[in-house]
Amino acid sequence: MMKTIDDVAVAGRCVLVRADLNVPLDGDRIADDGRIRASLPTLATLISRGARVIVCSHLGRPGGRPDLKYSLAPVAARLAGLLGQEVDFPGDIVGPQARSAIAALRPGGLVMLENLRFDEAETSKDDMVRGYFADRLAAPVDLYVADGFGAMHRKHASVYDVPLRCVSAVGYLVQAEVAALRQLTADIQRPYVVVLGGAKVADKFDAFGDLISKADRILVGGAMAFPFLAARGLKTGTSLLEAGQVDAAARYLELAAPGPIELPSDLVVATEIAADAPRRVVAADAIPADQMGLDIGPESAARFAAAIGTAGTIFWNGPMGVFELAPYAAGTRAVAQAMTDSDAFTVVGGGDTGAAIRALGFAGDAFGHVSTGGGASLEFIQGKTLPGLAALET
Ligand code: 3PG
Ligand code: MG
Repeated sequence: MMKTIDDVAVAGRCVLVRADLNVPLDGDRIADDGRIRASLPTLATLISRGARVIVCSHLGRPGGRPDLKYSLAPVAARLAGLLGQEVDFPGDIVGPQARSAIAALRPGGLVMLENLRFDEAETSKDDMVRGYFADRLAAPVDLYVADGFGAMHRKHASVYDVPLRCVSAVGYLVQAEVAALRQLTADIQRPYVVVLGGAKVADKFDAFGDLISKADRILVGGAMAFPFLAARGLKTGTSLLEAGQVDAAARYLELAAPGPIELPSDLVVATEIAADAPRRVVAADAIPADQMGLDIGPESAARFAAAIGTAGTIFWNGPMGVFELAPYAAGTRAVAQAMTDSDAFTVVGGGDTGAAIRALGFAGDAFGHVSTGGGASLEFIQGKTLPGLAALET
């Protein structure tokens, strides 16, 4: 069994917490602070026990070099507000400023490092490159705490290589995530309905290979639907579509014939992603060449909601449309509403999906579990070994 932060003495010790504070930003305004709030129990506990806390995270995909658009500075400020204490933000990762901030840390104090992905070594495919960066991150550390569940499916330096070098434990968030998501890996209450959407199609497409054999129904919306519609020979207009995925979608449809993959039969389309763009509902086989699908249509939303209503277990990752703009939020709202109306065990996973339910006014406790990880929860429920968990077991 993995050690938790309750199994180790932390007073006076230097504790590095790998959190996932990758929150959606709107300029430098935090659009949803759910992942920061989800990190509070572990951080507050370590602080109250007199640890010298360093917290680190990535934010977005800055591509291996500093880019102020992706600075964690606004996150450090929000964390300070939520904790009600100062958060020292030196502005680098393993450089001289971070080193001196860490040296000055007092028991109960907290330093937040700058975005780990400002260094290309964090995400490098080269073990040596990651290892060297991990050595530098680990140098001042007495204990590593894994609490960034949303990033644990990434074999990145701070997720995988640092815990190989340190005494390590899991934080409360990872503990809760693993306990809840385990219920989707054995003795699943059927029918098992999976709802997949969102925009990170490439990352998540593989999941179909496994879920086709596990789920009774897979309801597909968001940008995830377009490769499948294209594979059926339909025109998708200017919708977000990665051409390479159409062949894979065709194979999945063939594998799954006649079910469990269910696609939208109608869509809300517009010429651009804008709340005031003229929009209309069209059948999925009648998307105009100059328009893009921005939400599932009302007929699809009702059909998906009905399918959810019959389920014994529901896992949902990825919004059904551009929920950030009110005219394209109805599909996402319908799925969330059907899940909260259901007596099934319901799991919502993902940074964006969690943000979506909060933005649409749903309470987190109306669901069985709200996971902070999208890709991570999706890999976990397929029974894959997450690199971040594997590193803790070695
Ligand atoms: C997420 O938002 O899914 C996690 O923070 C991981 O981010 P990534 O997909 O950029 O690795
Ligand atoms: Mg995300």
